[in-house]
Amino acid sequence: MIDNSTEPKLQRPPAEQRFADELAKLAADDSAPRPPGWALSLQAARAFVVGDDRLGVSRKFVGDPSLIDRALVTLATNRGLMLVGDPGTAKSLLSELIAAAVCGDSTLTIQGGASTTEDQIAYSWNYSLLVSEGPTQRALVPAPLLRGMAEGRLVRFEEITRCPLEVQDSLLSPLSDRVLAVPELEGGDNMVFAREGFNIIATANTRDRGVNEMSAALKRRFNFETVFPIADFATELDLVEAEAAAALERSGVPAPPSRDVLEVLVRVFRDLRSGDDAGGRMQSVMSTAEAVSVAHAVGIKAWYLRGGRAAAGDIVDCMAGAAAKDNREDLARLRRYLEQRAPKHKGEHWRDLHQARALLPG
Ligand SMILES: Nc1ncnc2c1ncn2[C@@H]1O[C@H](COP(=O)(O)OP(=O)(O)OP(=O)(O)O)[C@@H](O)[C@H]1O
Ligand SMILES: [Mg+2]
Repeated sequence: MIDNSTEPKLQRPPAEQRFADELAKLAADDSAPRPPGWALSLQAARAFVVGDDRLGVSRKFVGDPSLIDRALVTLATNRGLMLVGDPGTAKSLLSELIAAAVCGDSTLTIQGGASTTEDQIAYSWNYSLLVSEGPTQRALVPAPLLRGMAEGRLVRFEEITRCPLEVQDSLLSPLSDRVLAVPELEGGDNMVFAREGFNIIATANTRDRGVNEMSAALKRRFNFETVFPIADFATELDLVEAEAAAALERSGVPAPPSRDVLEVLVRVFRDLRSGDDAGGRMQSVMSTAEAVSVAHAVGIKAWYLRGGRAAAGDIVDCMAGAAAKDNREDLARLRRYLEQRAPKHKGEHWRDLHQARALLPG
């Protein structure tokens, strides 16, 4: 990578770069057997994701370590891994971390969407070469699936259920027969056989569109693992605090919100997520990831607009845009919460929050 210090820094380098030193430490210490084609053993890969104090490896995913074990075992078989769950529960983060640990590369990624085509998944052609020399190896432009198979790496398929069914089904023969046909290629080399180390991690969000919209044939070729929201309040608060501080540091803010303010923020998110409070359940996503992004916005607002630290009142207008979006019912729920629920809590931060309800739009 070019290190040119006059250039702006990358906003978010891939996990294998962000945590290169941790991966190197784990590899040096790793004497356990590795599945063929893997860069680390299952134990070391798990330690990369959930942390290892002895080696100074940070905890990156908060949750049940047995989920990581099951995910890694699946990836060492010839079934794909499907991570499903509510939005913002760290499915994408988990797939990035696992890919970085298992094959040292998390960038072979297909972003699923309504307009995803087979070209973006498997391969396409360099048209000028195609015209001048026909369908040759040189004219072939491999997409993540073909590269993952040829190089023996993990391929990440984000939001797979947002893709049209026929596009999803292009994974069938790579997953079952471990081969991809490139019928246009002349000669005997029009089959790409997968090398050891190849497999697929897909993610699907239970809100956007049902996971049911996946053919039974493809479902059978994946093992499903559900990623749940963080159950414990203190654990979620710790995560939001750490992630917000890191995000704010990257944004040039030296003074993150105090823990007391973040405690109010996380409580509000959890109450609105569960819906067992004054306002009822929000339709918008009230995930941990959203809580982190509101904490980030709150810190930016306080620092760059006032040159200070965030107060609980700052949460209100940041939440209106980031969490309630343009949903009028959610805004009304948020307003009811601030009017009826917030005053029941003691302390200056809850008072602040209650008073700031006037900042809500509409
Ligand atoms: N259990 C968790 N462990 C670590 N980080 C978490 C956890 N839950 C949420 N987060 C936060 O959420 C962010 C990851 O969100 P990510 O985009 O991976 O979620 P997602 O499940 O893929 O969401 P979506 O369904 O919207 O794509 C992390 O960067 C972190 O800040
Ligand atoms: Mg995601």
